Amino acid sequence: MTDPTADVPAVAVVGVHGHGASHVARALQAQAEGRARLTAVADPRAGEADHVPTGVARHPSLDDLLAAGVPDVVVLSTPIHTHAELATAAMEAGAAVLLEKPPTATPAELDALLATSRRTGRPCQVGFQSLGSQALDHVRERVADGRLGEVTGWAATGCWMRPRSYWQRSSWAGRRVLDGRVVADGVLTNPLAHSLATALAVAGRQETADVLAVDPDLYRVNDVEADDTSSLRVRLRESPDLLAAVTLCAGERGEPAVVVEGTAGRATLYYAVDVVVEEVPGRPPLVTRHARTELLDDLLAHLRTGAPLRSPLADTGAFTAVLDAVTRSAPPHRVEERFVERVPLPGGDEHRRLRGVEEAVALALSRRALFRELDLPWTRTP
Ligand SMILES: NC(=O)c1ccc[n+]([C@@H]2O[C@H](COP(=O)([O-])OP(=O)(O)OC[C@H]3O[C@@H](n4cnc5c(N)ncnc54)[C@H](O)[C@@H]3O)[C@@H](O)[C@H]2O)c1
Repeated sequence: MTDPTADVPAVAVVGVHGHGASHVARALQAQAEGRARLTAVADPRAGEADHVPTGVARHPSLDDLLAAGVPDVVVLSTPIHTHAELATAAMEAGAAVLLEKPPTATPAELDALLATSRRTGRPCQVGFQSLGSQALDHVRERVADGRLGEVTGWAATGCWMRPRSYWQRSSWAGRRVLDGRVVADGVLTNPLAHSLATALAVAGRQETADVLAVDPDLYRVNDVEADDTSSLRVRLRESPDLLAAVTLCAGERGEPAVVVEGTAGRATLYYAVDVVVEEVPGRPPLVTRHARTELLDDLLAHLRTGAPLRSPLADTGAFTAVLDAVTRSAPPHRVEERFVERVPLPGGDEHRRLRGVEEAVALALSRRALFRELDLPWTRTP
């Protein structure tokens, strides 16, 4: 008897703990709907993965997984500094790749990976899931239709919280460099990287050459090497500047957003929830909610029909140029303890809150200024 699922694409997930658990769940969802089969996983800790059903092959590494059989799609949800090597191996073996963000830790790795993708003919989708949202298309259309007048600036913003345990969960967490390799695990390049990537996508400036200059302004409140509170200005080719102001040291979690400022109004894209709020003076706000295409489904559709990817590797040049400027900049400024409140959490955990950071983020956006240009006491060296 022939296997009725034999024509359904085989998907493997590499890195199954942490964020990888959501990829396992999504692959299982696609399997339940008959669009894919989760055939294998790879992780040095694959044996501890209770969320992976029995019957799914478990391997300690991607090499072992590929030696046992090449799936149609490899989903990579591993530490940033492993991305280039693992994605290269998967494509060389003949698999399409869904690669978590940030795609690579350096522009040289991105160029090499793009060359591998072109040579092998294997597509690579990058895990900026906000780019799967139709909210993005909506904002682009409103801007193109002139609903906001002339665009005067793009912004990326987010106020999140990350407890001490987040920074302690893995050896690479909060590192700029690990064992001589660039890791780039700062707020702008990892947890709130979506804000930056989505702002660049809304602006239609995703190529390396679109980034003319980057002025990073980085701070750290936690005991980490990388930045956890940062602002940054990107000068873009034939476009207004992009300003980013983000933190992981807020008092409570706020919805991150991309903001488009125009001469006639403003659009705020709450990219994590697919909601757009358009404000034009003299009119009530227009609030729209949008559907989202999952990036795995989008990649499977691409394999089936050749339809363009929503978040292709080739569209991450500008993001990677900004990431590179951040990783090459001076280390983040250490915020003095007197500006920080230590909030105890259950289980002996702790969150460090930078007092007034939400107001600082709002001010940075409204004045289109970096934190260090705002005369904030915590930005200064004593
Ligand atoms: N798109 C999003 O919203 C989102 C959210 C969180 C994390 N991420 C990204 O997902 C990736 C993983 O982040 P995380 O926070 O889950 O990391 P993590 O360190 O918590 O987990 C990484 C997992 O990969 C495994 N692993 C490590 N090296 C491996 C290797 N060489 N081969 C196979 N498995 C390996 C680990 O055992 C672990 O299971 C990062 O790129 C991160 O930026 C994306």
